[in-house]
Amino acid sequence: MRQILERLEADLDPADPHDVTVLAYGEISAALLVPGLEGRVCKRMSGFADHAMAAQYCELVTDYVAVLRDNGVRVVDTEVVLLDRPSRPPVVYLVQPLVGDLGNQILHTASDAELTGSIHTVLDRVWELHQRTASPEVAIDAQLSNWSFTDPDDPVLLDVGTPFVRVAGRHVFDQEILLSAVPPGIRAYYRRKGTASEYMDDYFEPRLVAVDMLGNFIKEGAVPRLPEGIVAANDWLSAHDLAPIERAQVDDYYKEDAATLELFLRVRRLDRAAKRILRRDYDFILPGRVKR
Ligand SMILES: Nc1ncnc2c1ncn2[C@@H]1O[C@H](COP(=O)(O)OP(=O)(O)OP(=O)(O)O)[C@@H](O)[C@H]1O
Ligand SMILES: [Mg+2]
Repeated sequence: MRQILERLEADLDPADPHDVTVLAYGEISAALLVPGLEGRVCKRMSGFADHAMAAQYCELVTDYVAVLRDNGVRVVDTEVVLLDRPSRPPVVYLVQPLVGDLGNQILHTASDAELTGSIHTVLDRVWELHQRTASPEVAIDAQLSNWSFTDPDDPVLLDVGTPFVRVAGRHVFDQEILLSAVPPGIRAYYRRKGTASEYMDDYFEPRLVAVDMLGNFIKEGAVPRLPEGIVAANDWLSAHDLAPIERAQVDDYYKEDAATLELFLRVRRLDRAAKRILRRDYDFILPGRVKR
């Protein structure tokens, strides 16, 4: 597998990938289908300054998955592959089996009772992590599109590429990985404002995780399921002594989230354009227009 990925990297132009199929553009990584690795998904992470930074990221993902599993979250098998490249900084691939029954499909096909069950199950996982007192603090992005529901009572998490891990209140995930994709001036601004860590803090608040999960219904084109989703989330919230969610909050939160992500994408495109003009190497696979 390493050899196949090494060969892929040697030929890949991230600014214009054509030897691979992009299964999905994540906000952070690109999920690729790679010839020779059928039945698997290869998520490509770039933006590391050097080997040490990439190795630290690999360790963080590995530890994160272990803590999640120890605390009742099923996580899809995730192989972490660090590739050193000649005369370029390394990249990391997270390789997973290609699974089905993704939550975003369920969102369109499930009955109201099934949808309610899925929401409760996922929020139970969020709660279990939240209740832990041991260090480190961990959280998850619980959006339904991040889970496979082949077993509806025990879904499997796919999205572990941005580990939500805090030690003594500070994120372990190195924000510079994300910031490396934006132009230097904007990078300094984001760094000063703490934009990325603020963004990641929300995932440690179960109620906001629920709001975000509902907001994702909008992105997935499942607005008709929102009323049922809100009822399900509110049942769960009231059982956990948390304030209920109103539709307007979901809309507002989603709008703001979408604007933040769109801006982040635009500044990355700007950086890509600048690098093209300067004929510099470009190392990120960016989506085209994203429907939000
Ligand atoms: N193992 C897998 N099997 C099948 N599909 C997958 C798998 N992993 C990811 N996907 C698809 O790719 C999408 C993006 O993957 P993932 O959520 O891990 O990336 P991300 O960069 O964290 O994305 P985002 O920030 O948008 O949540 C998933 O929502 C899912 O549709
Ligand atoms: Mg995701």
